[in-house]
Amino acid sequence: MRKKIGVIGSVNVDIVSQTKNLPKVGETIIGDDFLISFGGKGANEAVASARLGASTTLFACVGDDMFSKNSIANLQQEGVHITAVKQIKNEKCGFANIVVSNKNNQIIVVPGANSRLDSAYIKKFTSRIKECSIIGGQFEIPVESLLLASRICKDNNIKFVLNPSPIKDYPKELFDNATYVVVNEIEIGYVDKSCKTADQVLKKYPFKVILTKGSQGCYYSDGKEVFNIPAISVDVVDTTGAGDTFLGSFMVAINGGLEFADAITFANVCAGLKTTKLGAQTGMPTMKQVEKYIKSNKIKINGLKEMEL
Ligand code: RIB
Repeated sequence: MRKKIGVIGSVNVDIVSQTKNLPKVGETIIGDDFLISFGGKGANEAVASARLGASTTLFACVGDDMFSKNSIANLQQEGVHITAVKQIKNEKCGFANIVVSNKNNQIIVVPGANSRLDSAYIKKFTSRIKECSIIGGQFEIPVESLLLASRICKDNNIKFVLNPSPIKDYPKELFDNATYVVVNEIEIGYVDKSCKTADQVLKKYPFKVILTKGSQGCYYSDGKEVFNIPAISVDVVDTTGAGDTFLGSFMVAINGGLEFADAITFANVCAGLKTTKLGAQTGMPTMKQVEKYIKSNKIKINGLKEMEL
């Protein structure tokens, strides 16, 4: 049985400022804290998965600048397999300007090398994609490349987990090829325009669409009812990367044999624990930390002990 996890996506360096208030146009204000950290939705998902102990390969493009080199070193240190991370000459690392204010964030991403993850890259790495049993993807890379990858997954019985973020219109085929689609409140509006409410979307796509709603937890449906898995109660510092943590840990859980609802509960705990630290990857938990939290808070996750990594 193939057990490898693959993530196709972006690598960014995050420049994070923390501030109580946001400046108006033309205004300068004094912030509270500052951090340069590693990010990018693809890299974040891969780190979330690897930190839990799963064998994880990142399919990504970086440049040849200092940020790119440091990002590769960080991925390596986190235990992510980087042999499919392509370094492109005279290209910059993806960059994200993040402002954290009152536990929320605003992000501007400049893609840099991420925009070079094209169809030729996917074709070159097809055999490596086929080594994986589950693949995750998001929208900080060209959507056509992700579509091609999703076809490879479909044709080879590889589970494909889509996180359509940052959101834009995307081909229905990409949604259809996905085994699971993880969306927030805005992204769910793009899933199926014939549905008037989020509940309708969840019911129409049972055990496929997962809605994450921050402090309200996650929602999914069995086709008849909509179920809520409440968020864990923690002191939130920064929600940046919580969605990526959810996706990475959900893949670990599904790949490890957990049932759908248990996998969501597991991912929900991981994403919640992440929010206790500033920075996208800083607070991503290890398996030990997850187990400790689950035990002390009496959260029931069937099959966790037997979960294969
Ligand atoms: O989802 C959080 C991530 O979005 C950040 O790490 C930033 O790089 C942007 O890609």
